[in-house]
Amino acid sequence: MSILDKHKKIETHATLLLVLSFLVVTIGGLVEIVPLFYIQNTIEKVTGVRPYTPLELAGREIYVREGCYVCHSQMIRPMRDEVERYGHYSLAAESMYDHPFQWGSKRTGPDLARVGNRYSNAWHVDHLTNPQAVVPESVMPKYAFLSGHVIDGQYIADSMWANRVVGVPYTDDMMANAKADFAAQADPNADTAGLQERYGAAAFKHLDVTVANFDGQPELTEMDALIAYLQVLGTMVDFSTYTPDPSR
Ligand code: HEC
Repeated sequence: MSILDKHKKIETHATLLLVLSFLVVTIGGLVEIVPLFYIQNTIEKVTGVRPYTPLELAGREIYVREGCYVCHSQMIRPMRDEVERYGHYSLAAESMYDHPFQWGSKRTGPDLARVGNRYSNAWHVDHLTNPQAVVPESVMPKYAFLSGHVIDGQYIADSMWANRVVGVPYTDDMMANAKADFAAQADPNADTAGLQERYGAAAFKHLDVTVANFDGQPELTEMDALIAYLQVLGTMVDFSTYTPDPSR
């Protein structure tokens, strides 16, 4: 019996095909899943990663709502061309508070995992308002309307609560001050001592929270929130002191 005949036997016998397919899938599954139970931790321990501030979290929700992930990934792979273009490869720890994560699966535009602090706030306003004014050949849609949508953080505590349920360590103090922190981050004249105490350098061995009038207008808008989010992406871990654990 030739090998083709043997194969014909499988292909024409539904039950046999089902049983053998199941076996193959089981082996494949085991090979992928079992090792996870034998390593200490799938998320490396790094200092600096903190939950998003209320304003950044609101910006993240706008990012998801607008489907930015359809064109942008947030996942730098450990390959030379990517690392040279975008910076240090992404660590699992950097998206451990992202629910759902924004790794994406397609790059029509560049990866955004480390876009934080790469451009000024004014650049982001210009670019989001009219990408073609900054990069003439860009196919990115215009998001000028975000500047006209005033927001006040009315629901941000609920959103933090939902994140807390799935494991983001928002404290009671953070939740109680959600609305105040939300407004303070976009106002350079506000008292931000509380915001920094909750999310800043002392609490998370990380940079202080960036406080700015992100979109340059007096009102607090979705544009402010989105830029606050973009400016923190990839900036939480200090890679000048980070050393990968060689045992893993
Ligand atoms: C249709 C695909 C598409 C969508 C949707 C899209 N972008 Fe883009 N984006 C691009 C392309 C292409 C570029 C590169 C050209 C440019 O800079 O405009 C880009 C560039 C960028 C850059 C500059 C990155 C860099 O390193 O230079 C940022 C920031 C950005 N996009 C943010 C966003 C945000 C935020 C959203 C959602 C509100 C979004 N994009 C939605 C296609 C898209």
